[in-house]
Amino acid sequence: MRLTYTSDVWYKNAVVYCLDVETFKDGNGDGVGDFRGLTQEIDYLAGLGVTCLWLMPFFPTPNKDDGYDITDFYSIDPRLGTLGDFVEFMRTASDRGLRVIADLVVNHTSDQHPWFKESRSGRDSPRRDWYVWSDTPEPDDPKQVVFPDKEDSVWEYDEGSGQYYLHSFYRHQPDLNVGNPEVRDEIARILGFWMELGLSGFRVDAVPFLIENVNPQLANPHEFLADLRAFMTRRKGGSILLGEVNLPYKDLVRYFGDGLGDQITMCFDFIGMQRAWLSMARSDAGPLASALRERPEPPKDCQWAMFLRNHDELTLDKLTKAEQKEIFAAFGPSKDMQIYDRGLRRRLPSMLGGDLRRIKMAYSLLFSLPGTPVIFYGEEIGMGENLDEEGRMAVRIPMQWSKDGGFSQAEPVREVPEGSFAPDRVNVADQKRDTSSLLRWFQLLIERYRECPELAWGEYTVLDTGHPAVIAHRSDADGATVVVAHNLCDTAQDVELKLAGLERYRLTDLLVDGTVDVSADGVVQLPMGPHGCRWLRAAPPEIAPEDASVKAR
Ligand code: BGC
Repeated sequence: MRLTYTSDVWYKNAVVYCLDVETFKDGNGDGVGDFRGLTQEIDYLAGLGVTCLWLMPFFPTPNKDDGYDITDFYSIDPRLGTLGDFVEFMRTASDRGLRVIADLVVNHTSDQHPWFKESRSGRDSPRRDWYVWSDTPEPDDPKQVVFPDKEDSVWEYDEGSGQYYLHSFYRHQPDLNVGNPEVRDEIARILGFWMELGLSGFRVDAVPFLIENVNPQLANPHEFLADLRAFMTRRKGGSILLGEVNLPYKDLVRYFGDGLGDQITMCFDFIGMQRAWLSMARSDAGPLASALRERPEPPKDCQWAMFLRNHDELTLDKLTKAEQKEIFAAFGPSKDMQIYDRGLRRRLPSMLGGDLRRIKMAYSLLFSLPGTPVIFYGEEIGMGENLDEEGRMAVRIPMQWSKDGGFSQAEPVREVPEGSFAPDRVNVADQKRDTSSLLRWFQLLIERYRECPELAWGEYTVLDTGHPAVIAHRSDADGATVVVAHNLCDTAQDVELKLAGLERYRLTDLLVDGTVDVSADGVVQLPMGPHGCRWLRAAPPEIAPEDASVKAR
């Protein structure tokens, strides 16, 4: 059966917007963002054009890892509101046509979770093997330690019960043991609960960690992922799992489900993201082009999720040390911008020095890359980071609504930056009034991206441009074609593209007014301004351009 009922595979050209309720909007004046505040801003999000909200963890938590340390999977952190507020938010989001997914953090719990308290209460506790215990843990491989600034082992000795427990992340986050069928059932129950309240799926935290290092080892760890997907589909067709799987392509494709596409629906393209940064640092299309050429096609009904920045550090762990150094030198030269020896705790606009033309190019590139774009709140207005906040919190600062901040009437949960990225310089209200703002640019990119589904799921070909700084590709689907080109450097370049099969076609620019014609031998000359971006729809001479797009069915 051929695909393309766009609403069935809605996630394939969704625009996913990640936000933390805690830092988005305070609705009750206590300095902490909450569901009431978020609900007030749903129209802003709908107006921006995003189609799916990804909520970072909003569950009860001691908050030692910004909510990724959960003490109750079936409730709301009281600082953020009540289940009632959550349901009102869901109702409003659905009324405005927005889907919602949430972080599913079930690799571990907080050590304050009642399950762990019970588990550690004694070796004969009925919940003992809900977690992973050992008398003689394997010696650590330093690469296993995810947060080397705080931990030097993934095992912690528990005095009370005399064994070590596994914690892939911080020691206060003991790993749940999905080797235990009761734990697997409980995870399904959590999914079922939130889907019943309207969620369309989950962003699954730390997927490889979740299915590995469990006791007993699962005969086929991937079967568990397939089971979860099957469960979700039975409950709610069209629900998705968006996986955090930071692995080389050859290992990552297994998480889609070995050609069957029955496990993780969408995986983040961490390799493409890291190579994109290398390309930007060098003003050289090569690294990104090679990622796109190497990248396996996901199985039918699966999709790549594209991003440049997220809520964590900009991890560069899949690049060589020399490549990392190049990126540090270009985008985060001072030590306090760097973290864990492998990443940067900065947002994109500040990394690009606030250069609006370059920032616009970077996001144009993101939206045009084959896959589903995922953006982090505040990117649409070009928010910077606050390096005074600890570690990764530097990028998780309050949303900047107006000149005076506008996030809360009270002292905010985290501080906004000072200087050129402070709210009086970077905020929603000003950019709404300014037709040349980054916010307006995002709206345009989102509109165009949604109108060009072939960009999201078409067959793509990376094109030779004859100029190292210009990256171009074409996406073809159902007889329609879009060609895009981005100039990574700050000088104008003329490029020549060979477009087989588009001889004598007319290319209409989708971002500015203008057309350009393909010659009889299929060549098009494309002038590219400094950090220029072109999105061009191809139409045969006899068809008016507006009729040539792939129509949503
Ligand atoms: C999340 C982090 C979190 C960690 C532990 C990650 O993969 O993205 O923000 O600290 O999981 O839950």
